Amino acid sequence: MYVCLCKGITDTQIKAAITENGFTKLSQLNKELGICGQCGKCAKETKRIMKECQNSHEILLPWPEMILKPAYAGI
Ligand code: FES
Repeated sequence: MYVCLCKGITDTQIKAAITENGFTKLSQLNKELGICGQCGKCAKETKRIMKECQNSHEILLPWPEMILKPAYAGI
């Protein structure tokens, strides 16, 4: 289903961008896809899709090891 008629962006494209990149902000999607870049009428539906993805835990998060390095690392 088309969400952004100005740019021809579908809900599938939005979900893919969110799940593959872990986007949590509309500005990130705007930069990646160009969504909400013209009239802005797609903002409400885009936010709803983002929330839906977040609630279903579809967003890929980095491994904890990449964030917290154990004290013994490198020994
Ligand atoms: S519908 Fe998305 S910017 Fe117009």
